[in-house]
Amino acid sequence: MNAQVKPWDYSDPATCPSMPAAYFYDAQVFEDEKQRIFLKCWHLVGHVNEFKEPGSFIVQDIFEQSVLVMSHKDGQIRAFHNACRHRGNKLVSERRGRIPAVLRCNYHSWCYGPDGSLRSAPRTECLKNFDKADHGLKPVRLEIFAGFVYVTLDDNAKPVAEMAPGAEAQMRRFLPDLDNLKLVEEVDVIVPANWKVIQENSIEGYHFDLSGPVHKHLASLIDFSQYRLTPNGDWWTYMAPPNAKAKTAYGLPIDGATWQTDWFFNIGFWPNTTLYCFPFTDMVGTFIMIPLEPEKSLLRFGYYAPVGRETPALTKAAIEWMNKELGPEDIALNVSNQKGLHSQGYIQGRYLIDEEHPNQSEHLVHHFHKLCYQAIRE
Ligand code: FES
Ligand SMILES: [Fe+2]
Repeated sequence: MNAQVKPWDYSDPATCPSMPAAYFYDAQVFEDEKQRIFLKCWHLVGHVNEFKEPGSFIVQDIFEQSVLVMSHKDGQIRAFHNACRHRGNKLVSERRGRIPAVLRCNYHSWCYGPDGSLRSAPRTECLKNFDKADHGLKPVRLEIFAGFVYVTLDDNAKPVAEMAPGAEAQMRRFLPDLDNLKLVEEVDVIVPANWKVIQENSIEGYHFDLSGPVHKHLASLIDFSQYRLTPNGDWWTYMAPPNAKAKTAYGLPIDGATWQTDWFFNIGFWPNTTLYCFPFTDMVGTFIMIPLEPEKSLLRFGYYAPVGRETPALTKAAIEWMNKELGPEDIALNVSNQKGLHSQGYIQGRYLIDEEHPNQSEHLVHHFHKLCYQAIRE
């Protein structure tokens, strides 16, 4: 193990040094996170409405594990390991799509129904003791929570609702269209930074009015003094009411626009899933930090809008603004932050804990680092 990966005393956020830099690039830490965090946690796959048509599927890769989530004409959404039961061939490589009547393995043509059952397997009649019923796709645990589909590879994981008591009520308050959404767009960006570097950037307001111009625009849309970041164990919120004086947002006038909420609302679930809404928009965003390597992550931006009504121009502008302006401004910080973590001049820093100005305090970053540390070390 890297000598820099030393034990960390996180007990008092106001005085303790921050999580040591090596935790953001060490290969053994990354492997421990994979085993103890990502192979055990819940992963957001997509919205239930993406599975309305029987045979619709989404593939969720979790490191080398691949999970195939698909719907059947019985109305059920099920998840399976995305591997053929004959010789293990990966069945589906596209992220989304719809299978015809059956899912055919392109190696020896074993065919599976959308319920995972093995329907046909050429020439297996010649086998002794072979029953197709024993060779259906291996199921993966799935849950639907607040309109979204989640999977986990851990049969002992707490149900999402138990992991996050009270979270759904918060979501329904700010995102009233949760059950009535369609996917507008999904954008994947590879970021050369550790997944925690991306997360910690998103869960503090300290940099809002101190970093780049796009952040200052976001700060101008909200009553920044009322921005509150609240840890609740394995889930957290960070939100602010609107700035009543704001006249334009994302390059357009606010006057005349319609929205789900004028708040800036974010809710995070352990370890790497965020759902949010920008002020004055009619959308639900998902923001998922998927670890690929110690210093490489897949940042997946999902944008969902209510079914059955026109997406307002201001909402479309907000999505464009996130993709082209706010996202890149944060990603540039993630990349430069990751590079600096290797410096001989930086081992640990401090958390800016400020009870008088909770909007600009880093207490939620400390909370998140503590959860990460406890998961791999305690
Ligand atoms: S590996 Fe799938 S049919 Fe042989
Ligand atoms: Fe940011």
